[in-house]
Amino acid sequence: EYENPPKICCLGAGYVGGPTMSVIAMKCPNIKVTVCDLNERRIAAWNSDTLPIYEPGLQEVVEEARGRNLFFSTDIDAAIRECTIIFVSVNTPTKTSGIGAGEAADLTYWELAARRIAAVCNQSEDKKPKIIVEKSTVPVKTADAMARVMQASCIGTDFQVLSNPEFLAEGTAIEDLFQPDRVLVGGPTTPQGHAAVQCLANVYRRWVPTERVLTTNLWSAELSKLTANAFLAQRISSINSISALCEVTGANVTEVANAIGVDSRIGPKFLKSSVGFGGSCFQKDILNLVYLCRSFGLPEVAEYWHQVIVMNDWQKARFARNMVSSMFNTVSGKKIAILGFAFKKDTGDTRETPAIDVCKALIEEKAQIGIFDPKVSREQIYLDLGKEAMDKVQIEDDPYIACSGAHAIAILTEWDMFKTLDFAKIYESMQKPAFMFDGRNIIDLEALEKIGFNVWGVGKAS
Ligand code: NAD
Ligand code: UGA
Repeated sequence: EYENPPKICCLGAGYVGGPTMSVIAMKCPNIKVTVCDLNERRIAAWNSDTLPIYEPGLQEVVEEARGRNLFFSTDIDAAIRECTIIFVSVNTPTKTSGIGAGEAADLTYWELAARRIAAVCNQSEDKKPKIIVEKSTVPVKTADAMARVMQASCIGTDFQVLSNPEFLAEGTAIEDLFQPDRVLVGGPTTPQGHAAVQCLANVYRRWVPTERVLTTNLWSAELSKLTANAFLAQRISSINSISALCEVTGANVTEVANAIGVDSRIGPKFLKSSVGFGGSCFQKDILNLVYLCRSFGLPEVAEYWHQVIVMNDWQKARFARNMVSSMFNTVSGKKIAILGFAFKKDTGDTRETPAIDVCKALIEEKAQIGIFDPKVSREQIYLDLGKEAMDKVQIEDDPYIACSGAHAIAILTEWDMFKTLDFAKIYESMQKPAFMFDGRNIIDLEALEKIGFNVWGVGKAS
């Protein structure tokens, strides 16, 4: 009963909606894909040579499909009217006020999108069946709310609500979308629900092997997304907790991670100890899970997962505290160079980056900060650190200038380019004693020690 091939649109042209839809359009040249947003500047950027987000390989994908079968538009209503599959990929941040503030997901944008879809379907003449797809990460049972909004105000349109969470990571989004470990499609366990699931699954099957396209019920799909992020973040907090023990015992966290990671039951990935995890999702999604557990009367489960966040906050604070104590308990008036501000390499995204916490802690201690990041804009850094930080922070386009005259360097993002910097030259330009704090364990600290640096690495005895 669905048109074949189905026309597709997406509400939300952000880090998920943009790349995901671009890849669908590239892989399915006969499917028309329209990506919409309320934000006109964002859409204009998607239609320009300077895309609104940096992601390796994205430019090529967009250039191949844009204007052929990929369109970016602010005309949301027209897209909803025209399309069979409507993805919703709007932001779902943590609530900042009201019930569940600081934990629960803020579903305002989500519900506005739902109501808009309902209103457009209600007004449109042809009652084409619609498949509405949750792409955003949402609490379990959100699909129910979407279905109820649709039922209440959209008479006569046959619709199904599916959950199709996204597992891409920033910096590797295009690779992840080309060759996903799995695509997950959850839907109602009715014949109509099944037909909708197959319609969406068939889009992915054009380039994803069938055995990697998993289908489940709605609630399993919604909960699998929160669980995946919770498990990933938990691994980082676990290895970070061990990093502290390594520092005081003389063990080396990289050696420990390698030694446990070769056990095929544990596996080698996501065991890199760091200054702490960042990004828009890990913390938000765990808090969301914690809130859900509490609401369903499971306080022990909530507490268990909450510890992942507690450990991460402690790791970030510990890093900054350690810098201050190593530098004779004062950084007041000292210049400190920060290499890397993004929450991970190969992205310009700074949402929840540990660099914000570390810089703010150092500014509190009255340090002068010089920041270099190859992809984050000056405006973004000032926005993240706040106006009051303006006179304490200098942003440089050159890592050598950022480090010149500094008492210490802190590496906060694992950009590859930092590995090949000329540290002998940098050392010459610094105040002595010169300190290096490697928050990502990417530098050969022994080589730096030979140059003359006082070195400190996460999970390395000093
Ligand atoms: P984002 O903030 O980059 O993009 C969301 C976009 O939605 C914004 O451009 C906003 O203007 C737009 N929007 C809001 N309300 C709208 C409406 N009613 N109609 C049309 N557009 C609207 O967010 P993101 O990083 O793309 O994340 C989106 C969702 O995907 C979140 O739920 C997030 O948890 C989830 N997710 C994110 C990632 C990631 O790596 N960033 C990965 C997997 C899942
Ligand atoms: C993460 C998940 O990996 C994706 O599967 C998921 O779709 C996404 O969240 C989401 O839901 O938004 P992302 O946050 O983009 O993706 O990036 P990650 O590679 O997971 O890194 C997150 C943070 O953990 C970064 O700050 C990174 O530096 C840190 N990290 C990662 C470590 O400290 N150690 C590691 O071993 C791995």
